[in-house]
Amino acid sequence: MSDVDLNLSKAYESVIDKINNKPEIAIILGSGLGEFGETIDNKTYINYNDIDNFPVSTVSGHAGRFILGKIGDKNVICMQGRVHYYEGYTMDKVVLPVRLMKLLGADTLILTNAAGGINKEFNPGDLMAITDHITSFVPSPLIGKNIDSLGTRFPDMSEVYSNNLLSIMDKTAEKLLIPLKHGVYLQTTGPNYETPAEINMYKLLGADTVGMSTACEAMAAKHMGMNIAGISCITNMASGISNTPLSHSEVKENADRTAAIFQHLLREFILSI
Ligand code: HPA
Repeated sequence: MSDVDLNLSKAYESVIDKINNKPEIAIILGSGLGEFGETIDNKTYINYNDIDNFPVSTVSGHAGRFILGKIGDKNVICMQGRVHYYEGYTMDKVVLPVRLMKLLGADTLILTNAAGGINKEFNPGDLMAITDHITSFVPSPLIGKNIDSLGTRFPDMSEVYSNNLLSIMDKTAEKLLIPLKHGVYLQTTGPNYETPAEINMYKLLGADTVGMSTACEAMAAKHMGMNIAGISCITNMASGISNTPLSHSEVKENADRTAAIFQHLLREFILSI
């Protein structure tokens, strides 16, 4: 057994006894979006600290726990806080939580994040359904010995974000009269924000939003055959597009401001899946 495999098995063994209902839908909440977790019914909390080999977030605005419970008749497992590559974890540690949630039973994954807007049609406060991503600037979480029990060595990435889930999200947004953009998310390593020249390059490459998470998790989830949806909350315009210097407090403030609409969309989306 590889080290990655062993870490995952140990994490699984330390948590499985605490799970009453097999989760169907996994949700990862990004910076400033964690409050959604409180809207789950029949909550059970599991702190990341209590899970063997689990990476714990060091970022302010990220709590560190799973919330299990119900949204309507759906059993969900929700991560209030995630870890990022820039915190110094290896990529296989960064994606351990996603792999764990799949092993616990979740076949659907909803990824959310705070992101900088590159597409000039976007504004801070907009929500964007992620249609595809660019991970070429971060190492693949699948590097190393393949864990055949999770997925194939050379997984297809031609439809990482499920077209079916995208269409459900579009219909949900339309019903709620929430404008929902579509676009490509590009993941950087962070932790620094980008330079204007980098943002220009990312724009030329086809990115609509930029952030420091999500795409690696989507890749690991796709490797395991999960159905994936992604939502970016545009918290700021990216470097050079915005005239003001970027800061984490601005990102959190704007995420807070969008939280109510984001939560409404996410809840109705989950009920419609
Ligand atoms: N760049 C990278 N990550 C981000 C940004 C950004 O502008 N906004 C929120 N997360």
